[in-house]
Amino acid sequence: MAIPLPGTPIIVDIGSAYTKIGFAGEPSPRYVFPTITGTEKYKAVMVDVSGRNIYIGLDASKMRGVLKIKRPIERGAITDWNDYYEIFNYIFYSLLRIENLSNYPVLYTEPPFLQRETKEYIARVLYETHKVKSLIMVPTPVLALFGVGLTTGLVIEGGDGITWIVPIINGQIVDQSVQKLTLAGMDVNQHLKNLLMREGINIESSAVDEIIKEIKEKNCYFVLNPENPPKLNESFSFAMPDGSSIEIPNYIFHEAPEVLFQPSLLGFNILNIPQAVINCLQGIDKYYWSDLLSHIMIAGGNLSYSGFEERLRLELGQIIPQLGKIPKPKNVQPSKTQKMELKGKTRKKKDNCPNCGVLVDLSDGKEFCPSCGGRVVLPELSIGSLPIKKKTAILDGKTICTKCKKAIEDSASVFCPYCGENFESTDIPEIPRDIIKQAAPAREFSGFYNSSDDVTRFFVPENLQFAIFNGASILGSLPSFQRLFVTREQFQNNSDLLYKDISEIF
Ligand SMILES: Nc1ncnc2c1ncn2[C@@H]1O[C@H](COP(=O)(O)OP(=O)(O)OP(=O)(O)O)[C@@H](O)[C@H]1O
Ligand SMILES: [Mg+2]
Repeated sequence: MAIPLPGTPIIVDIGSAYTKIGFAGEPSPRYVFPTITGTEKYKAVMVDVSGRNIYIGLDASKMRGVLKIKRPIERGAITDWNDYYEIFNYIFYSLLRIENLSNYPVLYTEPPFLQRETKEYIARVLYETHKVKSLIMVPTPVLALFGVGLTTGLVIEGGDGITWIVPIINGQIVDQSVQKLTLAGMDVNQHLKNLLMREGINIESSAVDEIIKEIKEKNCYFVLNPENPPKLNESFSFAMPDGSSIEIPNYIFHEAPEVLFQPSLLGFNILNIPQAVINCLQGIDKYYWSDLLSHIMIAGGNLSYSGFEERLRLELGQIIPQLGKIPKPKNVQPSKTQKMELKGKTRKKKDNCPNCGVLVDLSDGKEFCPSCGGRVVLPELSIGSLPIKKKTAILDGKTICTKCKKAIEDSASVFCPYCGENFESTDIPEIPRDIIKQAAPAREFSGFYNSSDDVTRFFVPENLQFAIFNGASILGSLPSFQRLFVTREQFQNNSDLLYKDISEIF
């Protein structure tokens, strides 16, 4: 496949289980490979060979019998930097093979709360070692949400290592309410493995992890009532790579992913996904609840099981009453102009530590996690509203772009279709803090939902595993977004530029 024109952003999504690589504007990643490296178990006997032989992705997977396999990213965190560099080399020089990387910007998908040092280090590797033209790093939930055309919503992103519950308002993550669950695809693998062993099924193969993953991805599903699951055939025959077959009792297929709703099955004392959604909302102004609940977006490979959405809807419906009354918005267009400011402290009774995921009792005023020492209590947000000036003019009844002076047919457009000018990025005046604190709720409300109303509405992309890539692909092809990429010189002068608020283009 031909390399797109210089200037087209390369999208790099390196996940704990799979790396997805491609270009902005394309419908799916060009390359998807397992994020693993393999080095020879035994020292090479060949005389002239020096240095380390390392295999990446599918190459490592194919030769796993003779290799020592490593996963350089665990639960979203880089644990082996040398192998991580090798993955970059593999992406740029074995897969993409772009002659002059200095013509290509990179859109790097980052997990929420990526540490500043790590972020800047990755940036330096891309600028200095790979000499990319420019770079932008965007949190994965923002990309996933944008991929379904939304900038406000509650993203539930479940990959291999972490499940994130992330409220996003006007393209900005509401940091203090984000829930990080160390409960994801790898935990379902573990539970599946345990269940198979309990049935006396011991898979003896160097590719045992691959086989478990394959059984899971092809067969696991959710039932609505795990206490009383539908009756199916007793067992299912699974064909092994060596031609033999194993008989797997059918109940295992719905019991394995149950850990997402019952973490205690693996002995984890953490919230399950629906509880974490409620916890997340409790940290946000209630006037945003209906907006978030009616825009629940699901992303990440580990939420692809059939029946997940239905089960989540059911369980959420059962515990949403814990929130109390949910304000009902009047039928008005949502304002695009809400801004957020910090105030006060949250007063939750319990919360998951955003650092290590342990459930912490906060009723005694604790602010730090007893397990890892990380801060559990974060400031609360209040939301006000302020006007945004449009960068368009009206001439003879037509909307004109003030930059290129061309007439725009769609007066509601956020961008100029001719020159890419962002009509809504004009400087927003700073509003004094005291005014924001007193600001009335940003939207109009009329009463509350009845307890019987279904407030939830789900947005589920066609391919959950590529949802982040797809959002990045759309965003990366917008001219107004491309202007936010940071060059090496700009980064060297001011590293804060990498923390640019991309919500300004929404
Ligand atoms: N059809 C499927 N059914 C169930 N699980 C699936 C399916 N497809 C992929 N998965 C699982 O999803 C996980 C990979 O998803 P994804 O690629 O979104 O994660 P990642 O980006 O590698 O990890 P993370 O974002 O947590 O670092 C793996 O656990 C994989 O087994
Ligand atoms: Mg991921």
